Amino acid sequence: MVVASRLPVDRVEGPDGKQEWRPSPGGLVTALEPVMRETGGAWIGWSGDAGPAPGPFEADGLHLVGLALSEAEVRHFYEGFCNATLWPLYHDVIATPQFHRRWWDAYVLVNHRFAEAAADQAAPGATVWVHDYQLQLVPRMLREQRRDVRIGFFNHIPFPGYEIFAQLPWRRQVIEGLLGADLLGFQRRADAANFLRACRRAVGLTTRGSTVRVSEPGGTREVQAAAFPISIDAAALTETARRDDVRKRAREIREALGEPDLVLLGVDRLDYTKGILHRLRAYGELLDDGRLGPRAVLIQVASPSRERVEAYQTLRDEVEVTVGRINGQHGEVGYSPVHYLYQTYPREEMAALYLAADVMLVTPLRDGMNLVAKEYVATRYDEAGTLVLSEFTGAADELPGAFGVNPHDIEGLKNTIVRAADTSPQEARRRMRAMRRRVSEHDVARWAASFLDTLGQVPSREADAAREAPAAGSAGG
Ligand code: G6P
Repeated sequence: MVVASRLPVDRVEGPDGKQEWRPSPGGLVTALEPVMRETGGAWIGWSGDAGPAPGPFEADGLHLVGLALSEAEVRHFYEGFCNATLWPLYHDVIATPQFHRRWWDAYVLVNHRFAEAAADQAAPGATVWVHDYQLQLVPRMLREQRRDVRIGFFNHIPFPGYEIFAQLPWRRQVIEGLLGADLLGFQRRADAANFLRACRRAVGLTTRGSTVRVSEPGGTREVQAAAFPISIDAAALTETARRDDVRKRAREIREALGEPDLVLLGVDRLDYTKGILHRLRAYGELLDDGRLGPRAVLIQVASPSRERVEAYQTLRDEVEVTVGRINGQHGEVGYSPVHYLYQTYPREEMAALYLAADVMLVTPLRDGMNLVAKEYVATRYDEAGTLVLSEFTGAADELPGAFGVNPHDIEGLKNTIVRAADTSPQEARRRMRAMRRRVSEHDVARWAASFLDTLGQVPSREADAAREAPAAGSAGG
């Protein structure tokens, strides 16, 4: 069973004009689909809108169970505690986290709702995989109700250093919530190490290697915390990129831009962690200095995200003013140096954009992994194109073929963009080949299998006994 804040669904307009929900196959679903279909597993999540929950659905053998959030819960739990407290705190306080007791109360309440639903749905001895910072209390809440299930938790975003984490007024409850799991997965070894340190400092627990000892009424339990870097469905993306229509679209994009000498590309959720302003600053200065040749273009796709959270509104204004300034200063009739697209595109169009680029710019100030970097690499079956990649992403640990950069160092960023643009085709191919090997070998299926295998090896007498005993009446799981 998967428990995640989001259900893998999209809202679409039905034939009668009414809104409907359609399952949407993202990377996580693709990876987990075979194992979930085999076991009849359920996926518990929220649709992303206030009001009644969609579903339940059966989609390709997946059982999707929607949970409802009220308008107030969306404000306090989702926009508040998740995205104005935890998100900035876990991304090294790039924005100032806000601490409000009402938001915390909503976080506890909503986490309870997810845990209840999981406890209700899980079969005896089931494996339950909880995802991300929105649901850190679920492992413990679930364990309190169901000692027979094996619980895994994966944190998709960074886990901050203790000096930062310690600001959280509810730091102890969060650590104790997470420790309800048998296995905790993080993107990087550094994240797992930060978590283990928080266990020692915030709760006074003893750790040995990657193991935490937790005392409970029935004795002690060991919890593992380790790195499992997430990935993408690389083969599927490569296949999309090779399609005739997608390659044709990539050529059309370059034509529509007026066949520029250099196409730079940025693709991000519009989020202050992504370093979009740093990137624009460097690009604007390179145009000022005339270091990119006469006709360079930057395509910046910024997909709308968390639009009611203040920090996101401010960032959008700043990005749009900056783009306007650069275009005003360096544009001409028939030429805009920045093509800014505040939109979300289907995967085919994304693949065409990746193929149309000469240099991909991935410059976050902090990012758990950054799957855009991996998507770009998987798309470049032609082994062309270069990647500028921030040191502060999880992906940087895996892609040494990229041009590494500290996005705070604007001068360094400018020089690196020029180097990446001037790389010889042979050198670019050598780098891209190495990155493609890594991404195709370490894809999302391998990530999921490695997490689930490790979780399956955690000794759990209760889980083994429950699975061997005759069914006790629970469904699904
Ligand atoms: C990040 C988080 C996810 C989250 C996604 C989109 O990737 O790790 O948990 O779902 O952003 O953000 P949203 O707020 O729209 O769910």
